[in-house]
Amino acid sequence: MRKKKVLVVGGTGYLGQHLLSGLSEIDGVPYDIAFTYHSFAPEDLLGALPHLLAFQVDLKSGQGFDTVAENFGQPDIVVNCAAISVPRACEIDPVSAFSVNVPTALGTWLLSFEGRNTLFIHLSTDQVYEGVKSFYNEENETIPVNVYGKSKLAAEQYVSEKFSNFAILRSSIIFGPQTISPVPKSLPVQWIDATLSEGREVEFFHDEFRCPVYVKDVVNVIITLIKTWISEGKQMQLLLNVGGPNRVSRVEMAETVAEIRGHKKSLIKRVSASSETDKIYSGLFGDIVQNENLESQWVLVIRWQKDQRPGAQYKKWSCK
Ligand SMILES: NC(=O)c1ccc[n+]([C@@H]2O[C@H](COP(=O)([O-])OP(=O)(O)OC[C@H]3O[C@@H](n4cnc5c(N)ncnc54)[C@H](OP(=O)(O)O)[C@@H]3O)[C@@H](O)[C@H]2O)c1
Repeated sequence: MRKKKVLVVGGTGYLGQHLLSGLSEIDGVPYDIAFTYHSFAPEDLLGALPHLLAFQVDLKSGQGFDTVAENFGQPDIVVNCAAISVPRACEIDPVSAFSVNVPTALGTWLLSFEGRNTLFIHLSTDQVYEGVKSFYNEENETIPVNVYGKSKLAAEQYVSEKFSNFAILRSSIIFGPQTISPVPKSLPVQWIDATLSEGREVEFFHDEFRCPVYVKDVVNVIITLIKTWISEGKQMQLLLNVGGPNRVSRVEMAETVAEIRGHKKSLIKRVSASSETDKIYSGLFGDIVQNENLESQWVLVIRWQKDQRPGAQYKKWSCK
């Protein structure tokens, strides 16, 4: 039997690189794996994972997908990790945010194949929620309050309308180690660590909450979905909040980093999100808790221990 083809779109990003590593670590590497990049060919990544095929594509225009078809073929599974993922960049250029974050060019390309049986795993965000209450589940109304959230919600609608097999993962903030080829954007834990290590006082919100999720747990969720879809051979139409079990404010995140890394907690200054004059970031941070919704198939339970990386386990719930 031929190996299933997995295409990671946005394989050079933070999650994309961790996913490529995770897929490559599976015993016997049971998939043919390719990934896309946009800016530049990631030499470090290709050096570390030489069995991967890399293709340059532009999600805005669709340029490059024909080359993927010619050299890799039709993917069985696509994991879309590509995005303009920094909310401030989306506010500055909403047109680009929508044209990259809503994967219409990718979708048109995939739907051009005759046999259309592709599983489309799409990364979304907790920022599709308004963030004015605690404990969101997937049935809650989506009211994005920024361009990033609006573009991600439009992407969800596109994916769920166009594909008969899909999983949409609304992830909370993702943390973990740096990637093989370091990503240009600042990473939350590393940024807090670097700033506090300089001995500078920094302001953090005490009244905005997220449920940070360890990157390798997100990778495990994706790999589990891929394996399940292949082994069960059933239609998958899944919408899932993905977050860690701990509801923490920015202050608590900073305090945790300070405690583990031995920085002075007195450097952490508590401010209210409402004191922030730049409203781009206000009202965004709804907290996503572990999913107890029995309509969802998978529940992610993560324990964040102070002295080691979080352990993760998955419980399978039956659908109603
Ligand atoms: N990181 C988080 O905390 C977090 C939280 C919730 C949800 N998410 C979502 O999870 C996904 C992955 O996030 P991430 O943090 O890994 O993102 P990231 O590090 O910003 O990576 C973005 C990826 O998108 C690619 N890309 C950007 N513009 C493109 C274009 N015009 N055409 C093709 N590719 C393009 C980039 O390619 P180049 O590097 O080659 O430019 C890169 O591979 C995103 O959908 C994001 O919205 C992330």
